[in-house]
Amino acid sequence: MAQTYLVTGAAGFIGSHSVEWLLERGCRVVGVDNLRTGHLENLAVARLSPHFEWALADAGDETTMRALFEQHRFAGVLHLAALVSVPESFRDPALNYRLNLATADGLARLCLEFECKRLVFASSAAVYGTTAALPNRESVTPQPQSPYAAAKLAAEVMLLGYAASYGLEAVCLRYFNVYGPRQDPGSPYSGVLSIFTDRFRRGLPVTVYGDGEQTRDFVSVRDVARANGEALLATEIVSGRYNVCTGRAVSLNRVLAIYRELFPGAPPAEYAAARIGDIRHSLGDPALLRDMLRFDARTPFTQGLRELALEN
Ligand SMILES: NC(=O)c1ccc[n+]([C@@H]2O[C@H](COP(=O)([O-])OP(=O)(O)OC[C@H]3O[C@@H](n4cnc5c(N)ncnc54)[C@H](O)[C@@H]3O)[C@@H](O)[C@H]2O)c1
Repeated sequence: MAQTYLVTGAAGFIGSHSVEWLLERGCRVVGVDNLRTGHLENLAVARLSPHFEWALADAGDETTMRALFEQHRFAGVLHLAALVSVPESFRDPALNYRLNLATADGLARLCLEFECKRLVFASSAAVYGTTAALPNRESVTPQPQSPYAAAKLAAEVMLLGYAASYGLEAVCLRYFNVYGPRQDPGSPYSGVLSIFTDRFRRGLPVTVYGDGEQTRDFVSVRDVARANGEALLATEIVSGRYNVCTGRAVSLNRVLAIYRELFPGAPPAEYAAARIGDIRHSLGDPALLRDMLRFDARTPFTQGLRELALEN
């Protein structure tokens, strides 16, 4: 009988793609989400599968989560549920603590109680902060610059402490800039590509903060879903922190050039003053995850962007 995996934040952008990846591999999946920032429509494909069970719940609700662990005896947990907005973490640090740290702790303790060996945790490149040398390597001392990044780092430390203390297999994946279908363009702080895509498709000008020469390591959500799934299913894995990135820097001006080919009639971009706190360059070193899982982010950027821009 196929093994069952728990995915928290299942109705979110990365969660819904990860659920689909696991179902395609023949796994059973229980998807939990409280729909705080996720959307049930994201699970439209997954919900057609008899191997998928949907649970509207808060991943930090110990009673509900204990009942799910008891019923399903999960083989592994993919913990993606989070407060995902950095500005919101500044406004409400108590909520950030609860959603981004305490919930991970609660799930890790349930894993120990119910002998669920592996927990894959959605961390973030934000833990590196602004001063780390490029490309960011997992071995440097992180310097979080926001409550969000601090909680992600604290959760990593706590999970790896449980790995050392109790033998939990804790895999902390530090995603760089994830892009792809289903990323919500609703907030001004959403991924820049989801906002650009939305505006190009509607024929509206985009605003670039700064000169457009800032760069990001954009990684396709398809690759991230595969990294999540492989981290969950791999027979051998060493607990630790791993970048999920391409190792390639792409400037916003390059992004705009690709969009202009896809939308030739689009109005020119508007340039505004750089936003305080925005980092100039972000780039990860993908070597560690490549060594561990033979994982490479293989979606070429132009192809991923084209798919995003032209999807229905
Ligand atoms: N998108 C990126 O570029 C990026 C980069 C680094 C890290 N991450 C991390 O990846 C994870 C997924 O992010 P995403 O981009 O898919 O965002 P998302 O908002 O689409 O997904 C998060 C999901 O978690 C759900 N959720 C939040 N709190 C919950 C709770 N207490 N109980 C149950 N569900 C809850 C939300 O409703 C949402 O569906 C997050 O942990 C985020 O911090 C994302």
